[in-house]
Amino acid sequence: MNRNNRAVPLKVKAVAKRATQNENKRFVLLVTATLVVVASMLFVNSAKAAGSSVALESPIIDQGNQKSLQRGAQAFVNHCMGCHSAGYQRYSRMAQDLGLSEDDVRANLIFTTDAAGEPTKVGALMTNTMSTEYGKQAFGVVPPNLALTARSRGVDWIYTYLKSYYLDPEKTTTGVNNLVYPGTAMPHVLGDLQGWQVPVLGEEANGVTPIESLAIETPGTMSADEYADYVADITNFMAYMADPIKQTRHRIGMWVMLFLFLLLGLTYALKKEYWKDVV
Ligand code: HEC
Repeated sequence: MNRNNRAVPLKVKAVAKRATQNENKRFVLLVTATLVVVASMLFVNSAKAAGSSVALESPIIDQGNQKSLQRGAQAFVNHCMGCHSAGYQRYSRMAQDLGLSEDDVRANLIFTTDAAGEPTKVGALMTNTMSTEYGKQAFGVVPPNLALTARSRGVDWIYTYLKSYYLDPEKTTTGVNNLVYPGTAMPHVLGDLQGWQVPVLGEEANGVTPIESLAIETPGTMSADEYADYVADITNFMAYMADPIKQTRHRIGMWVMLFLFLLLGLTYALKKEYWKDVV
């Protein structure tokens, strides 16, 4: 009788221990599987096809870097908005996100006028007054709205595009061509900063002479590094415009992950508490 009484709890204990070990193993497996899925998602994201035959360069894009975004905004309104609009973006929203006051933006970043000829209001969309007909007449193509281009083309494309202009006498309209976007109707608007590049030709094969690289023929006002930084800032700003809420989303996302993590610990502890006497 006595022996029986002692044997039973011992057996129960052993079974319970095995069950916990199995559970722990399952838990470790679950965590590993989750990590593998997350890692593969990241990999797929970074390995997305570029869709261009030219090797694209990747700038450092950091939407948390307000100074870079401010420089990019300045360059964008100065050099790009003469032709392009950014018609989904408001000046006031840009001021808020880039850490600028509305007065700053009014004084330094608004160069356009509205339909009545008044300076554009800070609450207005970042459009310009170039008409579709004029754009077509001047360039053959209307300069597109650039607000979402960082999504449609990708940041690497834009960055490399702005660095890949070269002199091409056969292009009678603009005198320049582009490795990333051959035959582009856009002139090299940053040519005086970058300088003017000429193609360095490779070996002729099958009647085609490939362009191997580009070399500066006439230096511009910036060094190669300065120009690369300048263009990276513009690209960063365009990436911000294409997804203005990204920073906020990431910040909230971190809190949500932290909350879920704490909740996981809590629910696991609760589950252990509920099941501790049950076999
Ligand atoms: C003189 C007018 C003009 C200016 C200034 C200008 N662009 Fe353009 N841009 C064009 C035209 C025209 C096109 C259309 C080219 C085509 O499709 O052949 C274009 C096309 C583009 C494209 C390709 C868009 C797409 O999805 O096809 C990008 C990116 C671009 N411009 C960026 C810029 C940036 C950045 C600046 C300022 C540094 C700028 N542009 C300044 C006229 C201009």
